[in-house]
Amino acid sequence: MRLKRKDFLSIAELDKSEIELALKSAESFKEVSTREIKKVPTLRGKTIINLFYESSTRTRTSFEIAAKRMSADAINISVASSSTNKGETLSDTARNLEAMSPDCIVVRHGSSGAPAMLANYLTCSVINAGDGAHEHPSQALLDMLTIKEKFGTLEGIRLLIVGDIAHSRVARSNIIGFKKLGADVLVCGPPTMIPPGIEDLGCTVVNHIEEGLGLADAIMMLRIQTERQNHTLFPSLREYAKLYGLDKKKLERAKDSVVILHPGPINRGVEISPEVADGPWSLILEQVKNGVAVRMALFYLLLGGPSVDAS
Ligand code: CP
Repeated sequence: MRLKRKDFLSIAELDKSEIELALKSAESFKEVSTREIKKVPTLRGKTIINLFYESSTRTRTSFEIAAKRMSADAINISVASSSTNKGETLSDTARNLEAMSPDCIVVRHGSSGAPAMLANYLTCSVINAGDGAHEHPSQALLDMLTIKEKFGTLEGIRLLIVGDIAHSRVARSNIIGFKKLGADVLVCGPPTMIPPGIEDLGCTVVNHIEEGLGLADAIMMLRIQTERQNHTLFPSLREYAKLYGLDKKKLERAKDSVVILHPGPINRGVEISPEVADGPWSLILEQVKNGVAVRMALFYLLLGGPSVDAS
């Protein structure tokens, strides 16, 4: 099976059947990481370049591991030591990389739309590994997989996303993706971090975290994206933690079966207390594990296998 598209740029562009195909493929690739020899030959001879203009631990590493588990050659470009420092533009960098015949470039960039712009220039596949405050589509897939594994379905599941909704590409991709698969999405955060018109994506805004806690099957806590804020949007970290942070006391209001997610990196004691992050309800490391499987699936669906309709 293969997605009938060259690039993977957003959850918004996928239809329900394409998301389901990606999740199903990820479920089957998950088993490879449990083998003694964690490798399949599927993408032997393919070359994948990781081009990250922003910091990353989970996404960059899991794309690299995913490529290697599929037997592709994975090359990581450290932008800090690349010719970007000599003034080379993103499009020139990409065209020069393409001249070396990669099959796929995975790009993370601080500007919304940068991966889409590259995809227009390049004949190889482009995967969006996070662009500005726009989308982080592979993160949304791994979040969907993690919750689907827990509840068996996303249909009718209620997800509460708490934090800096305005600057979060994770929130945006997840709202769009979970809605497409029939989930109900609530968002909560300081009014300065709730963008006007967010309801147009199909979610409901709740003003106080306590309102949403008892309703949620899954709660996703977000980091404050200080790198994308021009000025401070709340009085102090202490006040933020008190009003919007999730600790064990607040968690008492939630369902017994609730699960907690966080895309990482975590600011312990700010948006989530250590006891919640490390407690039995936490699926945070399961998200990371699923990240490898989702990225293997994306490489497979874009670069491997015969081309068939996703539906
Ligand atoms: N979830 C996520 O994007 O983490 P990294 O920034 O470490 O890649």
